[in-house]
Amino acid sequence: MIPDWLGALFGVPRARTDWRFIRNSLRRCERMPLYRTLAGSVVVCRSDYARRALIDSESVLEHLPAFWQFPNGAPIPEPACAELNRWVHHSLDRHDAAEAAEIAVSRIAASSGDLHRACLLAVTESAGSILRTDVDHALRALVRSYVGELFHTVVVGTRRREHELRARALARKVAPLLAAHRDALPGVLAEDGALSGAERGELYLRAVTAFVGASAVAMAWLICALSEDDLAEVDLSGAARERIEQGPPGPVAMELLRLWPPAWQHRRRVLRDHAIGPLTALRDDDLVIPVVALHRHPAEWANPRVFDPDRWRTDPRPAAFMPFALGPRACVGGRYEIRWLTEVAGHVPTLKSLRLARLSKKPCVTAVFSPPRCEIAPG
Ligand code: HEM
Repeated sequence: MIPDWLGALFGVPRARTDWRFIRNSLRRCERMPLYRTLAGSVVVCRSDYARRALIDSESVLEHLPAFWQFPNGAPIPEPACAELNRWVHHSLDRHDAAEAAEIAVSRIAASSGDLHRACLLAVTESAGSILRTDVDHALRALVRSYVGELFHTVVVGTRRREHELRARALARKVAPLLAAHRDALPGVLAEDGALSGAERGELYLRAVTAFVGASAVAMAWLICALSEDDLAEVDLSGAARERIEQGPPGPVAMELLRLWPPAWQHRRRVLRDHAIGPLTALRDDDLVIPVVALHRHPAEWANPRVFDPDRWRTDPRPAAFMPFALGPRACVGGRYEIRWLTEVAGHVPTLKSLRLARLSKKPCVTAVFSPPRCEIAPG
């Protein structure tokens, strides 16, 4: 099964979810941290059970790749998957998070219009040296069009069939450009072999979404948090705002990922019946870890709805914090993301100077959890 927050990227149908769904799950998890839904999901909102489940030392869950799949949702061969993850890992290890953050922030500062699109495009520019869009203008144009016009619809929940078809067509145009970058891109993307041209194009665009998607959403939450008084049921008036503006950037980044985690639930299919505390998860159930609810659960956090960077001084590794999942298929970009978001949070004065007009009060809940739609006024 495809991880929920990414699965919709290329049109795999998902159960309908929205902000009301998350709010209901928050309330329910507060009353009952472990329960089974009528639809056959086992919901686990307790850090000890959730960690054990994701680490899965008894191999009772299915762990399919999050990004590296064929358009029909089938996973690509494991060696290709490993090569792609190694490339991501090495690229991020060498990538300068401070410089990347500076590029993203300067782009945002010069943007106007839809906030989500502006963040996606700003982060795309900051990943240019990895994606090769900094040296290849044709590739850059295609990637910008993919991110700004098509991937944007996934993030804000307006994706239609026509967008999927356009994404496929765009992937076919991308594929022939990749061979020129065989020195910098992994072989599996640059040359026909394990994968055909069209598949390589698709996969390259998935890599783009890996480098860009969740980071852009995290930046959008920060920008909104600097101008909203109430953001997805977190009170940001008065002292809370000061804590964002004046708090040390590292703990501010952690609080952003805690209260507004872009990957709002982790989902795995159950392969074998097994016990989770008093419940039995049955083969073919979905095991769901509702990350937003876990990150705000009163049994796991003191004053969970308060934006409090200080809590990270008392406990730098809270067991209930899992924005990047854990275990097999955990995020390979997590460590980099924290460095990058910390750098972005160091640019509060610039980000705060953006003037936002809110178009909705409700966060966008699609494959990712992102802030309500708003517009940046021209500077
Ligand atoms: C706020 C930022 C990010 C969040 C919240 C996030 C979250 C996640 C999560 C939850 C997963 C596991 C999905 C699952 O199996 O259920 C994942 C996988 C992955 N992430 Fe991230 N991620 C972030 C940033 C990044 C960045 C910057 C990269 C860089 C390319 C990245 C690359 C990947 C890759 C390649 C995988 C798939 C690993 C595999 O299938 O073996 N992520 N991410």
